[in-house]
Amino acid sequence: MKSSSSIEDLIPHLLQAKKVVVLTGAGVSAESGIPTFRGRDGLWKKYRAEELATPYAFISNPRLVWEWYDWRRQLIADKQPNPAHLTLAKWENIFPSFWLITQNIDGLHQQAGSRRLLELHGNIWKMRCVDEGTVFENRTTPLPEIPPHCPDCGGLLRPHVVWFGESLDSALLSEAFRLSHECEVMFSIGTSAIVQPAASLPVAAAENGALLIEINAEPTPLASVAQFNFYGRAGEILPQIHQALLQALEKNSSASLGKNRTTKARKTEK
Ligand code: OAD
Repeated sequence: MKSSSSIEDLIPHLLQAKKVVVLTGAGVSAESGIPTFRGRDGLWKKYRAEELATPYAFISNPRLVWEWYDWRRQLIADKQPNPAHLTLAKWENIFPSFWLITQNIDGLHQQAGSRRLLELHGNIWKMRCVDEGTVFENRTTPLPEIPPHCPDCGGLLRPHVVWFGESLDSALLSEAFRLSHECEVMFSIGTSAIVQPAASLPVAAAENGALLIEINAEPTPLASVAQFNFYGRAGEILPQIHQALLQALEKNSSASLGKNRTTKARKTEK
């Protein structure tokens, strides 16, 4: 199939899709004001990742690592979900099976209302005890104590995120691959699609016959694999696709599946 960037051409595929999976990256939160990792103003341009986001950095200088995370938590704390997050939250009620897999740790997908969500790289609002492994939610910014300590055992707490050199949670990753293998349609949105293993998910979906759609500010290595490529802002493109989908569902409301979906979609719009 030749690659297309026409929403009109995409809609018939979405109308038929029962299992839809979306992979998101830092680009979906860019319009909320959270810097991406590798763009022009990317976080990794100003800070050396190997100094801050590794287990070795944490062992040698937990204070420095926590200062960076405290700064990032403060930066994210007042940010709000944008139309990209909000559209993806609505899609849970439109497609019979819908899963969102994110590499983002900012929590904005949950804030937008997404519940069928796998956070592959953890969550910046959670901390984990280095000694006992207990995970705590903590939204206090700025942190009163750096580095923070476990309220239960006094051990050192670390951010509950995945660092360079660490493995992803194996159960979570297996589930992400299972969903990607089984879906009929996969979106890759706002990710440079170069960090593994997440970058393999859309490829796995495409290899298993799924329709792959890329939405990004610019082409990524997935561009040549995707059947649909939309270049621009996710917060503008996703609502456009959503509107076109709703209109098509209205038109198709005589079909039984369409009827169900239209009713749910209308409820979501309220
Ligand atoms: P990157 O910063 O690598 O890529 C962000 C992508 O979003 C780029 O391809 C941009 O072109 C695109 N982009 C920027 N603004 C956009 C917008 N408004 N709409 C659509 N696209 C936009 O971020 P990730 O791919 O998420 O891992 O990075 C993957 C992982 O690398 C992160 O989760 C993090 C980092 O190392 C860990 O911390 C483990």
